[in-house]
Amino acid sequence: MTEDSMVGKVVVVTGGTAGIGRMTARELARRGAAVVVVGRDRDRGGDTVQELNALGGTGCGAFVRADLSVMAEVRRLAETVAAEWPRVDVLINNAGAMFGTRQRTADGIEATFALNHLSYFLLTHLMLPTLKEVPGSRIVNVASDAHFGVRLDFDDLESARRYSGYRAYKRSKLCNLYFTYELARRLDGSGPVVNALHPGFVATEIGVRNRWVPRPLWRLFTLFAISEEDGARTPVHLAASAEVAGVSGQYFSKCRPVRSSAVSQDEDAARRLWGISAGMTGVGV
Ligand SMILES: NC(=O)c1ccc[n+]([C@@H]2O[C@H](COP(=O)([O-])OP(=O)(O)OC[C@H]3O[C@@H](n4cnc5c(N)ncnc54)[C@H](OP(=O)(O)O)[C@@H]3O)[C@@H](O)[C@H]2O)c1
Repeated sequence: MTEDSMVGKVVVVTGGTAGIGRMTARELARRGAAVVVVGRDRDRGGDTVQELNALGGTGCGAFVRADLSVMAEVRRLAETVAAEWPRVDVLINNAGAMFGTRQRTADGIEATFALNHLSYFLLTHLMLPTLKEVPGSRIVNVASDAHFGVRLDFDDLESARRYSGYRAYKRSKLCNLYFTYELARRLDGSGPVVNALHPGFVATEIGVRNRWVPRPLWRLFTLFAISEEDGARTPVHLAASAEVAGVSGQYFSKCRPVRSSAVSQDEDAARRLWGISAGMTGVGV
């Protein structure tokens, strides 16, 4: 099978400085893309850019610092991208985290909901005008099979009552699916395609970065996990493959469309979440 080239394409990868995002950025740059990676840590950002620029070929990297759990920083990121990269072919919403204890962002929003869902919602909306200008553009939302087994509590979307880090995470990944499906319905074949994915259980640092579990326990769990390179396969497939050029509103795992949970197919819930997210971010109304 021939490899899909990314020469001449611009890709934005949130959370592109570590884990699955970094490997996704590296593979897309290796195929020739100019990749804009987003994260909070300047050192990790600098190292990633060096790595991408050292790959040779036409691929290259740039870093934009932003804390995507803060809505003003998402807006600033979108402004920077619009000013410096007037053409963007692919947006990969990948930055995500698990929080061991309930935390609130500078906006006063529960951190998992803010970062894992609202940042996808807001950044996508702010970048839609640019993406719509580019024929064949794509939006890729990194979700998770962790969405199975939960439903949203619309009376407590920010887990104020009884916090469980894992449940908040699982619900945020269900939000990724509601957002993907509802956006695909609203775009209805005009503008970019939008798909979500499960990367597999991947041996990254996500479980320990925000003290979700102690490191020795995470090490034990991840003995059964796949490598970061393998975790990047499905996001790369959705960003680059000609096979999925016209596919929208689907959930993928192992580079194939799969069925997400029955709960995630609930269109009323998706519309309701959209309305709430629009109210909280001021876009998508
Ligand atoms: N690992 C898995 O098994 C697995 C399974 C299913 C789905 N996923 C999903 O895959 C995605 C990536 O996860 P991962 O395992 O690769 O995680 P990771 O190794 O912890 O990497 C997370 C990336 O996101 C960035 N990030 C974290 N908080 C941020 C913030 N507030 N603002 C901006 N960037 C931020 C990090 O950079 P900085 O820390 O420098 O900001 C880093 O680049 C997530 O959406 C996750 O839900 C992972």
